[in-house]
Amino acid sequence: MVICHCAVVSDQEIRSQIRAGALDAADVAERCGAGIKCGGCSPIVEALLAEAGVSIRRAYAAA
Ligand code: FES
Repeated sequence: MVICHCAVVSDQEIRSQIRAGALDAADVAERCGAGIKCGGCSPIVEALLAEAGVSIRRAYAAA
């Protein structure tokens, strides 16, 4: 399913970037372009990050 219509990025691509190490929405945007234009997809990107438990990974990365 296309999540970011501006950059035509699917949920699979976003999940793939999160698995590859993206730690926040800005990181996802830099890696695949999702969220860099209108920002309309940002809540879904944030939800996918939360679903993947990225806040926990981010805490370990900062330690
Ligand atoms: S829908 Fe993703 S930046 Fe516009």
